[in-house]
Amino acid sequence: MRAELVETSKKSKLISPQFPEMDNQQYAQWTALLEKRTGIRLPEKRRSFLTTNVCMRMREMGFSDYQDYFNHINTGNDGKVEWDQLVHHLTVHETRFLRHEASQDLICQKLLPQRKADCKKLPHTFNVWSVGCATGEEPYSIAMAIDEHMSQLGCEYYMGIMASDISRSALAVGRSGIYSAQKMKYVPPQWRQKYFSANKDGKYQINSELRQRVCFHQANVLELGKMPIGYMDVIVCQNLLIYYDQPRRTKIVDTLVEYLAPKGVLILAVGELIHWSHPDMERFPFANTLAYRRK
Ligand SMILES: C[S@@+](CC[C@H](N)C(=O)[O-])C[C@H]1O[C@@H](n2cnc3c(N)ncnc32)[C@H](O)[C@@H]1O
Repeated sequence: MRAELVETSKKSKLISPQFPEMDNQQYAQWTALLEKRTGIRLPEKRRSFLTTNVCMRMREMGFSDYQDYFNHINTGNDGKVEWDQLVHHLTVHETRFLRHEASQDLICQKLLPQRKADCKKLPHTFNVWSVGCATGEEPYSIAMAIDEHMSQLGCEYYMGIMASDISRSALAVGRSGIYSAQKMKYVPPQWRQKYFSANKDGKYQINSELRQRVCFHQANVLELGKMPIGYMDVIVCQNLLIYYDQPRRTKIVDTLVEYLAPKGVLILAVGELIHWSHPDMERFPFANTLAYRRK
């Protein structure tokens, strides 16, 4: 049954008599779908988070019945498109520029040349993959750090950054490279000047030269086995594993290892993986990071 479209964009307005609480069976059905498709298991205490966000999309789409919306999500191409929208609301995209400065420092101080004379040792292409890149602040921060480091050395280099996420909406922001003034408060003034241009509407856009270095691509971290990509010198996967249970974290990280070049480095967020070991990997110690290097 489709209801009249009600115009709203504020989550706080969404729970209304129009949408009764999900019963246990409905809740189980939605959480099972989310877990099957994304691996994310929502505990009971997140019930209102799920209900609020499902209701928001139902309202935007003109649905008033949970089952009708569930059937819609599971039918045909329209269902696939709508799932992409819903998944954006059910995943957390919190991020910011320079959120992980220690990870950038590791890349610049340990993996890139430190003297101009060493530039020849750099691989032909320095490939980085940001897994769970959200709206792009992480891959762009890495791109700026690498570019700054290499240009200060006066090295010619080629950097390719792949940035992937499950949310197409988040990726669209990254691809546009447009950020609010609020987001810019973490960007050092000299980087703001070098890598951004101010738009008339008060927002800032990453310069096209840097944008071209970052390729945004939709990928579900649970289905990485299907990705047709080459080997990476660095894989960064931060603040994504926390949404998964321990066995899934291990499985995701084991899969990422397969995409690392020899001596490639995997950087996770501190505390996101405990008691993990892999026959091809060794710890790569660097202050305030959790990193491993392919042997
Ligand atoms: C909290 S953000 C982290 C962003 C960035 N890495 C950082 O640390 O600032 C987590 C991101 O992981 C993405 N994500 C969650 N589950 C995913 C999955 N199964 N596959 C790919 N990305 C996923 C979310 O869409 C979200 O953008």
